[in-house]
Formats: sequence, C-alpha cells, structure tokens
Amino acid sequence: MGQNHGKGLVIMKISGAHPYFSNKSVNAIANDIKSLLKSGRLTDGPYLLDFEKAFAEYNGVKYAIAVNSGTAALDVSLRYFRLQGREVIVPTNTFISTPNAVIFAGGKPVFADMNPNTLCIDVEDVKRKITSKTAGVIAVHIAGLVCPQIHELKEFCTEKGLFLLEDSAHAHGAMLDNQKAGTFGDAGCFSFYPTKVITSCEGGMIITNNEKFAEEARCLRSCGQNEDRQMVMLGHNWRMSEPTAIIGKHQLKALDMFIEKRNQIARQYDEYLSYNSEIELFRFAPNLRHSYYKFPIKLDSRIDRLKVTALLKEDYGVETGQVYYPPCHLHPYYREVFGTKDGDYPNAERVLNHILCLPMHVKLSKENVKYVAESLVLSINAT
Ligand SMILES: Cc1ncc(COP(=O)(O)O)c(C=O)c1O
Repeated sequence: MGQNHGKGLVIMKISGAHPYFSNKSVNAIANDIKSLLKSGRLTDGPYLLDFEKAFAEYNGVKYAIAVNSGTAALDVSLRYFRLQGREVIVPTNTFISTPNAVIFAGGKPVFADMNPNTLCIDVEDVKRKITSKTAGVIAVHIAGLVCPQIHELKEFCTEKGLFLLEDSAHAHGAMLDNQKAGTFGDAGCFSFYPTKVITSCEGGMIITNNEKFAEEARCLRSCGQNEDRQMVMLGHNWRMSEPTAIIGKHQLKALDMFIEKRNQIARQYDEYLSYNSEIELFRFAPNLRHSYYKFPIKLDSRIDRLKVTALLKEDYGVETGQVYYPPCHLHPYYREVFGTKDGDYPNAERVLNHILCLPMHVKLSKENVKYVAESLVLSINAT
C-alpha cells in the first residue's frame, strides 16, 4: 500500500502476473535441488522423467516430452509434420512464437482471423484459407479458454487429412467437456514461462498419444540423436535441465488449486464490473473450465485503451496486459516478408485494440481485485 490517492483510493502496487510458490513448495524444491546437486546428474536425469510422467498423468495422455521453452515445444512438434513447401493455418491472434515455429520448421504460416466472442481462431476463416498445400492447423487456447469450437475444428481437420496442433501455452489444466487442453489434436504444446499458470522459470512440454511422434520429439530435442547417440535427424539442444524439471514438478502439484483461485478472482471481477456498460466481460458455457491465465475484458470502442493502460499504471500502480496487440500479421516482419497488411483480418484488428487484460495471479487478494476494479472505472472515467 502507498499514499492516499487524490481520488480516495490508497495506492497499491499490483503486477499483472506473478508466479506463486507456497512456503511448503519452496522447501520441497530446495530439498530436491540439494539432493540433485549432490547427485551430480544435472540434466537428462530422474527429475525430468518424474515431471514428464506426472504431466502425462495429469493430462491423461501416454507421452509427455519436456523441452526448454514453449517455443521449443512448437519447434519440435512442427518438425514431425514435414512442412517443406507446405502451409500451416495459424490464428493471427497469438504470440509470435506460434507462426515463427512454422517458418523454422520449413513451412509457411497462413493466418486466420479471430472469433470475436472467444478471441480464438475463427473456424469459418480456417475453412476459407485451405489450399492444396495446407498441412495442418494450430489452435491457440487464448487466455486459458479451450477454443469452444475445437471439436468442430478437429472434425474438419480429420475430414481433410490435416494435423491439428494445440498451442496450449495459456491453458494448463483448462478443459472443455472434461477433456484437457492439448489432448484434442495430434499434440499439445505448453509453456512454463514465469507469467504462465504454472512455471519452471523457462520451460515447455509436449503431450501426445502418438508413440512415433513422442520418439521423434525426444530425438529432436537432443540434437537429433537417438537412444544410441546416433544422429538420425537434424535437431537442436531443446532439453530441459533437472532444476527446471524439479520446479515444474512442484508447480504441477498446485495446478488445480491455482486454477480454482484464478476462477475465484474472475468471479470477483465479474461481480465488480458486470454492471458497467463501458466494459464487456466474456461469458462462457458451463462445460468449459477456464484456466484464467489472463482475464481479458473488452472496452467500449470509444475508450482509448492505451490511455486507460497508462493511467492505471501511473496513477494507480496497476499493471495490465493484452492478448495480442498487434496481431501477428501486423508485426513489421510479417508485413515485410509475407506482405500482410491492415484490413486483412478485420475481426482481430477491430476487437484486439480494445482488449485489456486485468491483473491475474494467485497472490491477488479480494481487496486487490476490488482496488483494480475501482481503479479501472476511475481511469475510464478520466479518459
Ligand atoms: C500462445 C503462446 N505460444 C507460445 C509461447 C512461447 O512460450 P515460451 O515463452 O515458453 O517460449 C507463448 C509464450 O508467451 C505463448 O503465449
């Protein structure tokens, strides 16, 4: 808490995201790290196997392959689909790693527009973007919401013989019809970056039920070497180290508790903001379990999002975020190299500029949430 603000609020400093480790978890991690350091086996050891096994079990899949980032999870997975000369349909509303990984794997990303009600890929636009070169589609479960149209997308991909990869970097433990994010398509990719629902500092994970895919991913992440140390394909060092696996394993134990807490915070935001006609809240069907990596809201189109963002930060100490502005096709690289331009993806361009993500992390108290909601309303009124 800080000084009394002129508008009647006592200033709090609220970060947009924050990793959480209970004291019990810190002690358990410290104990495992001590044993690890004494053991001398700092990579490719038993903690990695433990974390992979626990992650596979949690998601109800046969295989989990740990790597050193969410980006690496995409890089490794996409190589399986042999993309040379082929196209992959990617939502323009995602982090740049998603389309970039297609390029690194030798393919061409073709963007699809966004469904304005979910912020996820627009399945109708996917259907329009199919060509004879299309190899597959990547769905991104934006903010922790499993794309509500994932069943339809999967059916379409199966019918057309396309792969479906789920970029689940936001969606650890999120579900649709009791099925976990990352288990609908051929494989799911996760990130453990510090802002994510669970973290391992840096890190990533691939899940799949496909044995051949899993075998190849293990080989790729270790510079393309098989179990006999023979290099059989062109890979890279995408390995996860043992300390990282230890942290990830302990975070995973708390995942369901984290999701419950994030859902409580979301309900509190709803309570404070649903009456406000200048703020649109996203509503979801009860068959969805949101992981609330982020809590996006849509501001009335007459409100200047950047001004509100600046006021919240400077006057109230509240850090906010966005998903994602600019959308990928408007980044300078994509404009220059792929010729994408303003107006290509009207839903993404129209809606994303008005999306603001409110602080969302396990450490937020009820008082913090109330403060964020009040600061937001004051900031909107001041613009
Ligand atoms: C949708 C999405 N995909 C991929 C990534 C890449 O993950 P990492 O930062 O762990 O490489 C991120 C990370 O922000 C992401 O949000």
